[in-house]
Amino acid sequence: MDSRNLKESKGYTLWKKAIKIIEGGTMLYSKNPDRFIPKYWPTYYSKAKGCEIWDLENKKYIDFSIMSVGTNILGYANPEVNNYVIKKIKKGNISTLNSPLDIVLAKELLKINPWAQKVKFAKTGGEILAIAIRISRSFTGKNNIAFCGYHGWHDWYLSSNLQNSKNLNRDLMVDLPYKGVATNLKNTCFPFKFNDFDDLKKKIIKNNIGTVIMEIQRNLKPDKNYLSRLVRYCEKKKIVLIFDECTSGFREVYGGIHKKYKINPDIVMYGKSLGNGFPITALVGKKKVMESSQNTFISSTYWTENTGTAAAIKTLNIMKKIKSWKIITTKGKKIKREFQRIADKHKLQIKVKGIDALPGFEFNKKNTLYQNFICEQMLKKGFLFKNTIYLSVAHSEKMIDKFLKNLDEIFSLLKKRKIRNINSINDFKRMN
Ligand SMILES: Cc1ncc(COP(=O)(O)O)c(C=O)c1O
Repeated sequence: MDSRNLKESKGYTLWKKAIKIIEGGTMLYSKNPDRFIPKYWPTYYSKAKGCEIWDLENKKYIDFSIMSVGTNILGYANPEVNNYVIKKIKKGNISTLNSPLDIVLAKELLKINPWAQKVKFAKTGGEILAIAIRISRSFTGKNNIAFCGYHGWHDWYLSSNLQNSKNLNRDLMVDLPYKGVATNLKNTCFPFKFNDFDDLKKKIIKNNIGTVIMEIQRNLKPDKNYLSRLVRYCEKKKIVLIFDECTSGFREVYGGIHKKYKINPDIVMYGKSLGNGFPITALVGKKKVMESSQNTFISSTYWTENTGTAAAIKTLNIMKKIKSWKIITTKGKKIKREFQRIADKHKLQIKVKGIDALPGFEFNKKNTLYQNFICEQMLKKGFLFKNTIYLSVAHSEKMIDKFLKNLDEIFSLLKKRKIRNINSINDFKRMN
C-alpha cells in the first residue's frame, strides 16, 4: 500500500486491543476496519455531526462512505431529533407502563400505508424480520420461504446456506459463515433470482413456499411488470409477501420504494433510517396476517423503550417537512453522473450502481486493489470512502464538489501509475 503520509491510526491501535476482549472486535461486520483499509482506517470516532466524523486524534473526516450503514439520512446528531429524544429521556425513557409514543408512530406508519391496519415495533432489522417470518409461518402454516436480497443474521435466513454454501452470495455479502444454524432448517429457505419471475414461480411450486421476502430494489431496478406479476401470483397462491425496506425505505420515496411502483405487500418492514440513528424498526401489515402473532409468543423487554420511537416520530416529521428523499436523490443522481464522467475521462471502466440516494461504483474486473487505493488516497484528503455513499441531507454541494474533484485526481493517479494491469498485491507494492 502507498502508506506515505499515512501513519497507523490511534484507532487501529485500539482495535488491536478490542479484538482481544470483544469477540469480533465490533458488533457490526460493516464497521470492521478490515473491510476498508485496516491500518489506516480511523476505526473509532470521538464525535459525529452532520456528515462529519472526528477520530481519536481529533482529525476530521467527511463521511462519504456508509454513514453508519445508512442510519442517518438527516445527518449525525441531528439537533431537532436529539432534542426531542432528550426531552423524552428526561421524562423517563421506560417504565412499568407503556409509552403513548407507540401509538403516535403507529398512526403515522399506517397513514403512509393505507392498505395496512397493524404495526409492530422492535429495535433491529434482523430481529424484526425474524418476527415477520414467525408471523407469516403462523398465518400460512407453511415453513418454507423464498427470498431475494439481504435480510440479516437470523437462523431462518442463514439456513439457506445449509443447502448450498453459495446460496447467500448474490445478496450483499458473500461467503457468510453459518455454522451453528440448526441443521434441521436445511431446505426451508430458498433464494430466487431478482427480475426473473419464472425462477420465483418454479421455486414456489417445487418447494411448497408459504412466504416470499425480498428487497424490491438494491443495485438493479425491477423490470416493468415484474413486481405486479409477483404480487398477483403471491395473492393467488395465498403466499405472504414481505417487502424488506430496511435499506431502501425513505431514501427515494417517503414510506419506501414500493410506493413508487404502486404495489403493496402483506407486510412491509422499515429499519435503518427510521430513527435517524436511534434503534427502532417496524412491521406494517394487513390485519389478517399480523393478527397471527397472537398464536405465537413474540415479546421482548426493550421493544417498549421509547428513545427509538421518539426519534422516529421526529425523524418522519422532519423528512416530510424538508422532503429529504428528494434532496438526497438529486444529489445522488449528480454523483452517479459524475462517477461515470470522471471514469470515462480517465478511460477507466466502471459500473455505476445503487439507488440514486445510495450511489456506488465498482470496477468492471472487481479490482479490490483499485478500491483500496482509492480508499487510502481519500483518507489522506480527509474523506471516508470506499465505493458506496449513503447520502444524507448534511452532504452539502460544496462537500460533494470537493469529493468529486478529489476522485478525479485519484482516478488520474490510478491511470498514471498504470496499475490497471496489476494482478496481485505484490505488483501493487512494487509500484509504491
Ligand atoms: C435490507 C436489509 N434487511 C435487513 C438488514 C438487517 O438489519 P440489522 O443490521 O439492523 O439487523 C439490513 C442491514 O443491512 C438490510 O440492509
